[in-house]
Amino acid sequence: MKKYSWLAIMAIQGIGASGAAAAAAKQSEFGKIAEGTVQAVELSNSHGITARIITLGAAIQALQVPDRTGKPADIVLGYATPAEYVAKPQYFGATVGRYANRIAAGEFTLDGKRYTLAKNDGPNHLHGGTHGYDKVLWKIDSISQGSPARVVLLYVSPDGDAGYPGTLKLTATYTLSEENELAVEYRATTDKPTVVNITNHSYFNLGGESSGKDILGHRLTLMADAYTPVDKTLIPTGERRAVTGTPFDFRTAETIGRRIRDGKEEQLVIGRGYDHTYVINGAAGALKMTARVEDPASGRVMELLTTAPGVQFYTGNFLDGTSFGKSGHVYRQSDAFCLEPGVFPDTPNHKDFPTSRLDPGATYVNQIVYRFPTPKR
Ligand code: GLA
Repeated sequence: MKKYSWLAIMAIQGIGASGAAAAAAKQSEFGKIAEGTVQAVELSNSHGITARIITLGAAIQALQVPDRTGKPADIVLGYATPAEYVAKPQYFGATVGRYANRIAAGEFTLDGKRYTLAKNDGPNHLHGGTHGYDKVLWKIDSISQGSPARVVLLYVSPDGDAGYPGTLKLTATYTLSEENELAVEYRATTDKPTVVNITNHSYFNLGGESSGKDILGHRLTLMADAYTPVDKTLIPTGERRAVTGTPFDFRTAETIGRRIRDGKEEQLVIGRGYDHTYVINGAAGALKMTARVEDPASGRVMELLTTAPGVQFYTGNFLDGTSFGKSGHVYRQSDAFCLEPGVFPDTPNHKDFPTSRLDPGATYVNQIVYRFPTPKR
């Protein structure tokens, strides 16, 4: 019989050196779709946090986080079966790309060549088109036990995929630590110059996706002095507008709902709520504290850290009561918020936005950390 060291056995069983149970990873089958079997990998730690990652869209399908009394709830929207993800895609928890968010008229020029993409959002291209990274089966590259627990997923997007140039080799790495951090890291390389913006599109409700409550009472702090106003089709005008004195100012904690119905604020009217990119304070590339959201009712807190220059704040304005969540609840407008870190929308058509260009030899990296401090009792 093969001999294992005491430490190795502890790691296999998910037990930390301190004797406490440590983070662990467990693979199972989530279900089948026409393209094949969807796998699930559940990452869990000893503080009651569990994240279920599925290979369809490299998505967070469920995320259990304890409230102030220690009671866990699933705080992300999603479906119970792969068939529902295929039948009514909503980007729930998904990895979106090749270019997350919008590209005006589905067109851009790179090195003098014009590229045409699908128009799947009115006149514009959205979230990589009709067959973006949220709709494909990713492969599991590796699963690590112990603390932290980790799953690495792979996808190769061929040259010309959805109209984008270059073969893009992608990894999505989900890591759950004993420090209550769920980290997502996207990395990509290309064989031709291309444009890239990959993010995670989780819809959060810190009260729980089955709570029947919306997120308008959640308190948001967002470290951004400016945001990018949009035209009527949600394409940035190019302006970076100061948040000072507007309903977009979340530099000190404010409930999401207090100003969301301000009919005099044209940008809120256009977005049907918040659906805007904030320009994150500080230098892009460094992992920094970007947002904090607190649900006073449950006591749950989520902090968001990222290396990205921007974050799309979206209040689920298009949830219209036609998606049925995993617990049988209907999802309606404002039932969740999204904070999607990335470059700004339509960057390929805006020279003065932080670049979305990726060249051969370089590596695209977008790091996102969702941190869940233990709630105060
Ligand atoms: C993003 C966009 C929204 C909407 C959602 C998906 O957050 O900014 O306008 O398209 O994705 O429904």
